[in-house]
Amino acid sequence: MSDDKKGQVTDTGHVWDGNLRELANDPPRWWMISFYASLIWVAVYFILYPSIPTLHGYTKGILGWTQIKEYKKELQEIEEIRAPYENKLKGMTPAAVLADRELTSYTINAAKVLFGDRCAACHGAGGAGNPGFPVLADDDWLYGGTLDDIQESITNGRQGMMPSFGSQLSAQEIDTLTDFVLALSQGKGDSVPAGKALFDEAGCSGCHGPDGKGMHMMGSANLTDGIWRFVAKDQRESVKYTITHGVNDGSDPKTRQAIMPSFKDKLAPTDITKLTVYVHELGGGQ
Ligand code: HEC
Ligand code: HEC
Repeated sequence: MSDDKKGQVTDTGHVWDGNLRELANDPPRWWMISFYASLIWVAVYFILYPSIPTLHGYTKGILGWTQIKEYKKELQEIEEIRAPYENKLKGMTPAAVLADRELTSYTINAAKVLFGDRCAACHGAGGAGNPGFPVLADDDWLYGGTLDDIQESITNGRQGMMPSFGSQLSAQEIDTLTDFVLALSQGKGDSVPAGKALFDEAGCSGCHGPDGKGMHMMGSANLTDGIWRFVAKDQRESVKYTITHGVNDGSDPKTRQAIMPSFKDKLAPTDITKLTVYVHELGGGQ
């Protein structure tokens, strides 16, 4: 280290607090080397790459590098990896995809992104459901959980229809039916015999089936499994509301809205295939 005894080292002449001198030693050698190296680096970078903004653009550098070109190159590399899979997927049925393990894993990864973009706003991340929108990750299906059912749901959309009963039934009848439906969901339908009779008389069983298990053909919810299509803190109020105002019944302004849009014109056929496989593999596919 340098010797700083008084008089032997030049100083800048600045003295603080009576005895603190500012010395004028040369910077260390390694520091100077790095300093000159970085100057050279700046010059080389300036020659090769875009660097300094000018009034009407920027200095371009002799390599012609731009961020857009770099991005396009990376995109092309990704497309090249995807192309064989995408070509293979064309014209394949979801069942054929599922029979090919490598293709299935590619498909599920690609569909995750698609699902996030196009479906998760309604159905929740990973199909976990949202209030008013059905869970896709369980094995409780309105319209069925086979590959064909799921593909049909996505392609052409779904719109369950239940008439509003508020003007057809008395308040007391609606109460009785509500009690019956809640009992049914706990496997105790027989404990409300008046409701059971009314369920047939009012025509509920025509859509929900005589045992209340629902029919996939019309998406009438299964009322016996305790999994609610319209979940609420007060489930009794929710059931009563559904019976009173129906679902997608245009004649009742307070009716519940339940529309699954059609994706026929919004997604490529291979994307629908991918999403069908993905939803099927979320856990509840049949
Ligand atoms: C605007 C909201 C919305 C979007 C976006 C949406 N869905 Fe739906 N989806 C619904 C509703 C509501 C239902 C239930 C329809 C009913 O109750 O009759 C449904 C039903 C379904 C069903 C049938 C579920 C069953 O239990 O049978 C499937 C499968 C489905 N959606 C998949 C998808 C996929 C895949 C996407 C993305 C491409 C998607 N949905 C996008 C609202 C949406
Ligand atoms: C024309 C057919 C039809 C008739 C008649 C009908 N329903 Fe429904 N019901 C449906 C459909 C379809 C759904 C599911 C709507 C959806 O999710 O899109 C539904 C849903 C429900 C729900 C909501 C279930 C849940 O999980 O939140 C209840 C409760 C219900 N119905 C009770 C009844 C009762 C009680 C009657 C008789 C008074 C009745 N329904 C008559 C078709 C019908």
